[in-house]
Formats: sequence, structure tokens, C-alpha cells
Amino acid sequence: MKRDLISIKDLSKEDILDLIGQAEELKRSPPGRILEGKILASCFFEPSTRTRLSFEAAMARLGGTSIGFSSGEMTSTRKGESIQDTMRMMGSYADIIVIRHPLDGSAQAAADAVDIPVVNGGDGANQHPTQTLLDLFSIKECQGKLDGLRVGLAGDLRYGRTVHSLAQALVHFDVRLYLIAPETLEMPQDICDFLRQKGVRFSFHHTLEEVLPKLDILYMTRIQKERFTHAVDSPLRLTPEMLESAPTGLRVLHPLPRLEEIDPRVDTTEHAYYFQQAADGLPVRQALLANLLGALQPC
Ligand code: NCD
Repeated sequence: MKRDLISIKDLSKEDILDLIGQAEELKRSPPGRILEGKILASCFFEPSTRTRLSFEAAMARLGGTSIGFSSGEMTSTRKGESIQDTMRMMGSYADIIVIRHPLDGSAQAAADAVDIPVVNGGDGANQHPTQTLLDLFSIKECQGKLDGLRVGLAGDLRYGRTVHSLAQALVHFDVRLYLIAPETLEMPQDICDFLRQKGVRFSFHHTLEEVLPKLDILYMTRIQKERFTHAVDSPLRLTPEMLESAPTGLRVLHPLPRLEEIDPRVDTTEHAYYFQQAADGLPVRQALLANLLGALQPC
């Protein structure tokens, strides 16, 4: 496994399966203070609830500590300092960095500036590789497998970084993809080309109704309205009534935060899996931190 995790493409299929296996083991039997004395720099220039807190909780549960910030407003970037300079400092205070930043490519810029491992906690509309690891963990947990599945990716496929990383990871598995998005928010061309090149079967759709009866996993996402200003026609919305046409085994995932795209009444149906999914962030990020800090057998 590489020293940094910037893109999901940094991980081979074996790396991904090893990390999921280690996370399953950590979830079953918590290992104790294997990161005692280690410091995580948690550098969040963009809002975050789950990613930041599950990284910090993962560090604490393994005996390590965290320093950092949850808004760029509170750092010297406010005075005009570059990301590289801020990161260089964090690199001398900590053993590993997780960074979230609104600019595509910012995590790579941070990694280039320091000598310690850097993990991308989301860079603009580009990548969110640790979310993908936990998404795969949750898919395996709720479906018992990662192959032979029909997976719908729905919502803002254009600006949503979670679906970009997830689509690129799913090429390692035998899946049929359904890309469901409003017309102006479709999956970027380069990712569709990548799926084609890897031989993944996929199709484009504008409504949930036309694909629901076929799916094992429906991965919903919110519209990333902070990333664009153009109009969006007919945003998607999942209701319990629509789920009546779905297979009983269908599980609905969502990286959260959820806005209007999932009716809260879906939460109490057997299909909802998004809150369990958010909880899976802890063992998955524990496995990743322990690996990158050399406290587990490297993948
Ligand atoms: C996602 C993100 O930040 O990209 N959230 C998360 O990390 N769980 C999804 C989103 O903000 O819509």
C-alpha cells in the first residue's frame, strides 16, 4: 500500500480487500492502544461531521491523539498562508494528516509538501477515498458480498466526490451499475470512460422508479449546491411508497448528510442502511490509520 491515500486509484483490489478484512476484525474485537503516542493532524477546511469525528474517534479508540481544526477560518490561511505552508507545519507536529479542502487536487498538494502520510478526507468534487472504503465495507456487511450486485448510484453524480471514488472502486468487482441523475448532474465523461475501459456494464437514467425493481444497492447522494450555480431540473427523491416496487433485499446507502433526497419515513423501512453505514466509518478508519502508521501488518 502507498504511503498516502489521495485517490481510491492509489489502492489495488487486494489493498481494498485487506483493509476491509482488517476493519471487520477491528469491529469484532477492538485491539486496544496500538496507536499510543501517535498524533493525527485533522485539517478540515470544509464542513464535516462524520469524516472528521470518525477519524478523531478512531485515533482516540486506538490510544492516539488528534490536533487540528474544523474550519480554515481559524488558521493562518485566513491571513493568506498557502495550503503547502500550513501543511508543512502540521507535518512537523503530527505523524499523519487527514485533510479536507474545497479545491480539487488540494490533498495531493498537501502530500507533496510533507514527509508524513496524508489522507484525503475529500478534495472539492474530486475524490473521497476513505468514504469509499466504508461504503464497500457496508455493502459487504449488508449484502454479504461485493460481487454479483446491481448497484444504483443516484443524485449529484457530477459534483459528488463520493460517487466518483465509489464508481472507480467498483471496477474491481462484478457489478452492474445504474447511473441515475438529473440531466445537468450526470457522471463526468472521464469516469464513464474509465468504467468502459474496465469493462463495467452501466446505463444512464433520470428517474429512480425505472431502476428500483432491479437493484440490490441504491446509493443516494445530495445535490452539492455549494459547488455550482446552474439550475437543476427534477431532483430525485426516494419515498417509502416507491420502495414498494423494490426487491426485499434492496439496501439504501447514503454518505450523509441527507437533505430532501430521502424522505425521513424511509428510515424505519428494512431498506435503510445509511446510519449503520456512518457507524462503519470508525472501524474502517481505524484499520486505515493503523496501517499507514505501521501498527498493523501492511496491506
Ligand atoms: C460527503 C462529502 O463530504 O463528500 N459526506 C461525507 O463525507 N460523509 C457527502 C456530502 O457532503 O454530500
